[in-house]
Amino acid sequence: MSSALGDFCRALTAYGERDFDRARRLVQQAAQSDPANVVYSAAATYLGRLIREGESHVYVAPEAFGAFIRGGGNVPLYARTSAALRRVYEGYTSLSLLDIGVGDGLALLPALPSNISRLDVLDPSRAMLDRASAALSERGVAHRAIHMTVQQFLHAGAGSYDVAQATFAMQALPPDERSGVLASLRALIGRLLIVEFDVPDFPTAREELVAPARVRYFVERYQRGLAEYTDDGGLVAQGFLMPIFFGAFDPGEARLNWEMPIAGWVHAVCEASFAHVRIEPIYDYWWATAHLINAT
Ligand SMILES: C[S@@+](CC[C@H](N)C(=O)[O-])C[C@H]1O[C@@H](n2cnc3c(N)ncnc32)[C@H](O)[C@@H]1O
Repeated sequence: MSSALGDFCRALTAYGERDFDRARRLVQQAAQSDPANVVYSAAATYLGRLIREGESHVYVAPEAFGAFIRGGGNVPLYARTSAALRRVYEGYTSLSLLDIGVGDGLALLPALPSNISRLDVLDPSRAMLDRASAALSERGVAHRAIHMTVQQFLHAGAGSYDVAQATFAMQALPPDERSGVLASLRALIGRLLIVEFDVPDFPTAREELVAPARVRYFVERYQRGLAEYTDDGGLVAQGFLMPIFFGAFDPGEARLNWEMPIAGWVHAVCEASFAHVRIEPIYDYWWATAHLINAT
């Protein structure tokens, strides 16, 4: 391990122990040893602000998230995701569709063809669901907006659909609820489309958060991510990427995301008795390659 990465690992351990001064000193040391690494310099800036302004001032800012999701590699990622979905829809003459965790409809809206006979969009976030629903209404697309989690929906007696899709939303399911959701979906739908990132399978027990292999992956990948947002005065870097980065090393932060390798998703889908499963790489995104899992 390089001395810069070693210092950075120690910095993240100090951060997890809430020793922010020590964390910043070690990050600055890493940045001095490897000045070309933009993660170290962005992390030093972030910790400097955290120390100066306090923890309540370093968080994911809505305008930074907006700039992030509609810029950089998210543009081709979403374009290819929508195109891949649309190719599947085009195989149907008439299609009933459920979008699980639709968000604000970024993946769904550009994919929509005219052959949709019934559309249900579901999301537990009222704000996101309202935005998706308003955008669909603006386009004159009849739909039902369902404000609940997929677990609640399945429990409440969901209808049946030709296709259910979840783009970057299945990762929100805790592992102990995943197989139950997939098995219930299997009984209701003809086809399941999941888009997720093929991330390495890192253990995430508290004591393993700062494992060198995990830190190395994050550093390498965030270098690529930061490089996609260099002309906004640090808006995305400091208002979105760094808060997410440090959140991944904060043992006190509640976990909201359970990504896993694509092989893990395929295994889970097969376990839920989907008989035919195809995988298609969609885009080599900075964080990991996105894949479509198409299961019938
Ligand atoms: C990363 S966003 C993806 C949104 C959208 N599908 C897209 O591709 O842009 C994940 C979405 O899943 C939703 N979500 C979180 N937990 C969920 C659950 N248990 N059931 C359904 N959706 C959930 C979130 O509210 C969020 O809108």
